[in-house]
Amino acid sequence: MAKNVLILNGPNLNMLGSREPEIYGSETLGDIETRCRAEADKLGLSIDFRQSNSEGELVDWIQQSPDSADAIIINAGAYTHTSVALLDALRAAGKPVIEVHLSNIFQREAFRHESYISQTARGVICGFGAHGYELALQAAAKILEVAQS
Ligand code: DQA
Repeated sequence: MAKNVLILNGPNLNMLGSREPEIYGSETLGDIETRCRAEADKLGLSIDFRQSNSEGELVDWIQQSPDSADAIIINAGAYTHTSVALLDALRAAGKPVIEVHLSNIFQREAFRHESYISQTARGVICGFGAHGYELALQAAAKILEVAQS
């Protein structure tokens, strides 16, 4: 059976396309999901692609992931910089985590330079826009291949 990757998107990412396009680009989250599905097909992975503005809902989905996901890709949006709850949930899930940001958070305000998610992520992909999600799937495929052998 294909390995499954849970792709989580946090607050305000449902607004992509119209939200600060000079920073986040013109693609919608639907466009990004389409890219992810195409990339996952190429890699032989299945994906579960979700977005929530609610920290609690994201925590719930991470808690459910041990039964359904082999790896987690997460763009936690602003919760990246604030959420110990997401960090704790990701640690407890015990799955490989890949952190994604559309923008290069290190070129932006100082408060975006700190990430709770990075404390548990295998790696971070940021600054490549929507393509970062495809790169994250490639990284997940590699990690899971290694985990399999
Ligand atoms: C973001 C960067 C965060 O700082 C910001 O709060 C977001 C999006 C990104 O994808 O570049 O909502 O995670």
